[in-house]
Amino acid sequence: MPKAYVYREYGGPEVEEFADLPKPTAGPGQVVVRVRAAGVNPADWKRRTGWCRPGTGPDHFPAVFGNEVAGVIAEIGPGVTGLKPGEAVFGSPLKGGYAEYAVLPAAGVAHKPDEVSFEDAATLPVAAATAYDGVRQLGVPPGGTLLITGVGGGVGTAAAQIARNAGVKVVGTADPGKRAFVESLGATYVEPGPGVAERVRAVAPKGVDGIYDLVGGDALREVAPVLGDHAKLISAGDQSTAKDLGGGPVTRARTKEVLGAVAGMVADGSLNPYVTATYPLEEADRALREVENGHARGKIVITA
Ligand SMILES: NC(=O)c1ccc[n+]([C@@H]2O[C@H](COP(=O)([O-])OP(=O)(O)OC[C@H]3O[C@@H](n4cnc5c(N)ncnc54)[C@H](OP(=O)(O)O)[C@@H]3O)[C@@H](O)[C@H]2O)c1
Repeated sequence: MPKAYVYREYGGPEVEEFADLPKPTAGPGQVVVRVRAAGVNPADWKRRTGWCRPGTGPDHFPAVFGNEVAGVIAEIGPGVTGLKPGEAVFGSPLKGGYAEYAVLPAAGVAHKPDEVSFEDAATLPVAAATAYDGVRQLGVPPGGTLLITGVGGGVGTAAAQIARNAGVKVVGTADPGKRAFVESLGATYVEPGPGVAERVRAVAPKGVDGIYDLVGGDALREVAPVLGDHAKLISAGDQSTAKDLGGGPVTRARTKEVLGAVAGMVADGSLNPYVTATYPLEEADRALREVENGHARGKIVITA
């Protein structure tokens, strides 16, 4: 039976295990994808702890980890048009992606351009698409300045490049060990922690025109004073602090059009997802720990 990495109940890493699960079948409007690569995201371990994104129901156990994959269509369900077995695609699975096979809603599946690797494509449905949505939502004009907290991770790396390509000046906070990496994205590096607002003002004397937060909590509270209009403050991970400060959550489009847009950027070389580590499915636990430790650089991907 095909292999998958699952959690058997809500809890810590101790509830994770590898499992042999029956090969899924495609229901109406669905496709089964032979997974070649799966992106690893903070939401994966958060979900294991019992956290649930609004609009999604509780898990049925064993629950397969993962929310973004790229692979080859193995089967199409009744009523599916525009997709064929053998085509290379990417998207968000319905019930997990750290597996040899995943079921995806056909409506949310995009074709993978030939120029884009399976590993890169697997990072687009969550990280790059969230980056794209947030940068568009903030709408900082060319020549304006966008501050990104947690710029060195999966969403931040993509957001910095998307904003930079739109002519926006990017200032980003990250661990000092990521300084050179952050600067390679075309962003101005600022060290986080106490005094961060003064350090941001030193590199952006006119203030910033938007904050895209990817850390939350104190890291967000400490930088918020540099922004005049708090309506231009959004957070991907901590909407409650963002709302306390007068901002709000990133609004996700979750459309095929957005997937096509970010894949096009990777294909034309204007967006690098920075896959900094890949692990075979048999080492999915190591991949997840790398993200769960909170200091990932770029994207971590599992290959199946
Ligand atoms: N709403 C949505 O649809 C959506 C989608 C994707 C992600 N998210 C959420 O958005 C957040 C970011 O996601 P991600 O995939 O980018 O996570 P990630 O890859 O783990 O990156 C987070 C980054 O923040 C950095 N960081 C941690 N503490 C920091 C601090 N105090 N100051 C500055 N940087 C700090 C981390 O490393 P260093 O400390 O080493 O720099 C890491 O590079 C997560 O909470 C995730 O759940 C939400």
